[in-house]
Amino acid sequence: MKIAIIGTGYVGLVTGACFAEIGHEVICVDCDEAKVKLLEDGGIPIYEPGLEDLVRKNVKANRLRFTASTQEGVEQSDAIFIAVPTPPLPDGSVDLSFIERVARDIAAAMDGYKIVIDKSTVPVKTGEKVAETIRRYCKSQVEFDVVSNPEFLREGFAVEDFLKPDRVVIGVQNQRPVAAMKEVYGPLNAPIVVTDINSAELIKHAANSFLALKISYINAISILCEASGADVTEVANGIGMDARIGRRFLDASLGFGGSCFPKDLSAFIKISEHLGYDFNLLKEVQRINTHQMDRFFKKILDTLWVLKGKKIGVLGLAFKQNTDDVRMSPAIELCQRLQNEGAELQVYDPEAMQKARAILENVTYVETMDQVAEGCDALVIATEWPVFRELDLQKARKVMTHPILFDGRNLFDPLEMERLGFIYKSIGRGR
Ligand code: UDX
Repeated sequence: MKIAIIGTGYVGLVTGACFAEIGHEVICVDCDEAKVKLLEDGGIPIYEPGLEDLVRKNVKANRLRFTASTQEGVEQSDAIFIAVPTPPLPDGSVDLSFIERVARDIAAAMDGYKIVIDKSTVPVKTGEKVAETIRRYCKSQVEFDVVSNPEFLREGFAVEDFLKPDRVVIGVQNQRPVAAMKEVYGPLNAPIVVTDINSAELIKHAANSFLALKISYINAISILCEASGADVTEVANGIGMDARIGRRFLDASLGFGGSCFPKDLSAFIKISEHLGYDFNLLKEVQRINTHQMDRFFKKILDTLWVLKGKKIGVLGLAFKQNTDDVRMSPAIELCQRLQNEGAELQVYDPEAMQKARAILENVTYVETMDQVAEGCDALVIATEWPVFRELDLQKARKVMTHPILFDGRNLFDPLEMERLGFIYKSIGRGR
């Protein structure tokens, strides 16, 4: 099929490259001409495992190209995916101005029947508004269908998630676009859920909120574990083996972050409010998440007492493993809190240091993870990069002023850490 993707952020670029990979002819549109030029020259504006190879391969095969012209994208495609940002407004609700703008641009460029598919995360009932907008701004005789097709891509695993999805959700107003949408996703051989647009839009917010709830749930359990001498990892394993619960997203941590969960939770609370329901359960999910960061920070304060003049090494700046993304990163928030107390920071992240530099100043960025412990009063693990498990702990212990390690991601075994001579504080492990 001929496909246009409007917006080449994380979602748009991964979607475009993967559609090309499964055989479609894809044109990616972005209003940022510098980005289009970079992509045309073979550059990738983000770190996402596997993406660069995929883009290069499909550009070479003439299945993927880039343009700054929405008109060109629309004219040359049968299916047009909207993948533009839907950032939060100060009150937590969603800024839909990019979606509205794109809907108008698509309408103005439409020259025949098109399927307009929303992939951006939007409040329920947005599809109705998009259809209304297109109808208002398009040439009167042109026919179109609006579809909701939410994405469930995790950063760092986006290509894998796209090519091997648990399910593809397709929300439609009528049956006309269903066959074409099934053709678009056919090569993936994935389960396809066809539903109405409002349900599809709700599925996205309901899924992300549920996953955030799962993390807050285990983080709340971690408090009980600390108070009782139990181990949260054991509890997670024990409850996770129940197929109705599942082990994934039960890793206790210093809290979730990123560009999706915090934003989607706030948005869903607002959406519910508009629909007349006070979603207190989700407010509690947010509260537990903030509390978890407070608790971790307090552990550091209680142990080190005064932070002023102390040197702390921080491993991890990205909001999670496998990404260079530092937006709403708990690691960055923690660094800033430590700095506010007067601590001197020495930091390392395998991928996120370049992006961190723009928001985290007056810290020493070191080149390797082994350098981070040098001369430190304490070490903090803030991101669950698997490579941190390979840290040479004996060496770290030798170069540190004091062997104290705060593990916000439970990467190490408490008994082993004790054996190595560390004062080791992690999450929800009371022993
Ligand atoms: C999420 C959803 O998983 C994805 O389906 C959606 O499309 C976008 O939002 P993402 O934000 O990339 O993806 O990250 P995810 O892997 O879900 O992690 C979110 C946050 O939760 C991270 O800060 C991560 O460290 C934290 N987390 C995750 C935990 O603290 N514990 C866990 O068990 C899992």
